[in-house]
Amino acid sequence: MQTPFMNLTFCIRTFGCQMNKHDSERIAGMLEGLGALAVESVEEADIVAFMTCCVREAADTRLYGQVASLKNIPLRSGTPLSKRIVAVGGCIGQRDGERLVEKLPHLDVVFGTHNLASLPRLLQSAVEKGGHHVEVLDAASSFASELPASREHEWAAWLPITIGCNNFCTYCIVPYVRGREKSRPLEDIVEEAERYVAAGVKEITLLGQNVNSYGRDLYGSPRFAAVLDALDATGVERLRFATSHPRDLTDEVIGKFATLRSLMPALHLPVQSGSDTVLAAMNRRYTRDHYRALVAKLRDAVGDIALSTDVIVGFPGETAKDFEDTYRLVDEVGYHQVFTFIYSKREGTPAASMNDPTPRETIQARFDRLVDIVQKRAFEANQRDLNTVVDVLVEGASKRDTGLLSGRSPKNQTVHAPLPPGVSAEDLAGSIVRVRVDEAKTWYLAGRLLDPPTRP
Ligand code: SAH
Ligand code: SF4
Ligand code: F3S
Repeated sequence: MQTPFMNLTFCIRTFGCQMNKHDSERIAGMLEGLGALAVESVEEADIVAFMTCCVREAADTRLYGQVASLKNIPLRSGTPLSKRIVAVGGCIGQRDGERLVEKLPHLDVVFGTHNLASLPRLLQSAVEKGGHHVEVLDAASSFASELPASREHEWAAWLPITIGCNNFCTYCIVPYVRGREKSRPLEDIVEEAERYVAAGVKEITLLGQNVNSYGRDLYGSPRFAAVLDALDATGVERLRFATSHPRDLTDEVIGKFATLRSLMPALHLPVQSGSDTVLAAMNRRYTRDHYRALVAKLRDAVGDIALSTDVIVGFPGETAKDFEDTYRLVDEVGYHQVFTFIYSKREGTPAASMNDPTPRETIQARFDRLVDIVQKRAFEANQRDLNTVVDVLVEGASKRDTGLLSGRSPKNQTVHAPLPPGVSAEDLAGSIVRVRVDEAKTWYLAGRLLDPPTRP
């Protein structure tokens, strides 16, 4: 089949959350299916696509710089094009649409979060006719999972079960750029999971802005526990999910951590703040005590479950006392990992019009204090695994030392271990090996391979 993409190369730069990473895999799958060749560097690429994020301001400004700097990069030798084609998609594409080409005139294509499948058509028009091609839709008609994929790792897959979000936390732009929550029929999810398992996928991560409300739109009430049961029954080795909203995490789902073979003992449960006043202003619709009760139930179900969370520091009106409440909560829970963010004003959200007299330095000082306690507790949490044996799903070579393999424990900790002589990290990628842990740091564990595999 001859397509206009046959002799073209492309490169995708992805920012933001796993939803974007998943969408990028679909874009790569579509373009490869049309004959284009994926390349690592922008210099080598005829087509550059940015999958963008606008959840905080920093991501926004970075995009403009990156797109602008492409102007100075010469075309690769041998390209059939007279101009590099630049596309912007994802959440900034959705939010800004036409406005992007006004600010960045050398941009060729803009698409949104609801129309990934249109990208080849838009690119083709840009290649053949030149000019700007902007298409942004208000709502999704299908799931990106129905498109072909070129996955980053053949042994791991992301599987969206819902798209969009109905929660409207007052600081958050996601509902505006990803639309209303929409669940995928359970049969479709199971069918996709079964295909992955048959193809050798070891780990499936279910995705949604709030997976716990899965099914409310389709079945009248949430059916996330049923999804977990069905996925476990596919025989997949490791099952994870993100993200959970604390208000919707049910006892039934918590119970699954104790009973389902494949469900890994790790949960990302964003708390955002430990202050009831701030939680109410954020429209999170749970209290500090509700959250603490969830943590207790999770630890009843799985004693050493690894908890991670997101915290926003400096939400408008956050007082010193509110921050203390957050600090104490983080101190008390003892997370394996905390993603800490300084509040970033997002135009169009309710919080953008809330007053905040707190000086920037005060917020920064709170943030620094929080990071200190996060690191201290994360270090302590990892100490509990010293001298134990953990099953590690190997991802590849460690970035800091290529003589080390790097992988993930069931609790989602990064684990390093020296590779046996003559065995490369690629040989082991996707397999599960046993590692005796003899070093536990804040952000990783290290040890040695038990029963080291030999080269076949
Ligand atoms: N749906 C997920 C994650 C959404 S965005 C959830 O509800 O948990 C990921 C994280 O970014 C959020 O959990 C929040 O901590 C952070 N975030 C979102 N909007 C923000 C803003 N305006 N300023 C700072 N952090 C923000
Ligand atoms: Fe944003 Fe809240 Fe929805 Fe998460 S649950 S995506 S923080 S609005
Ligand atoms: Fe960012 Fe969009 Fe995800 S704003 S966090 S890429 S949903």
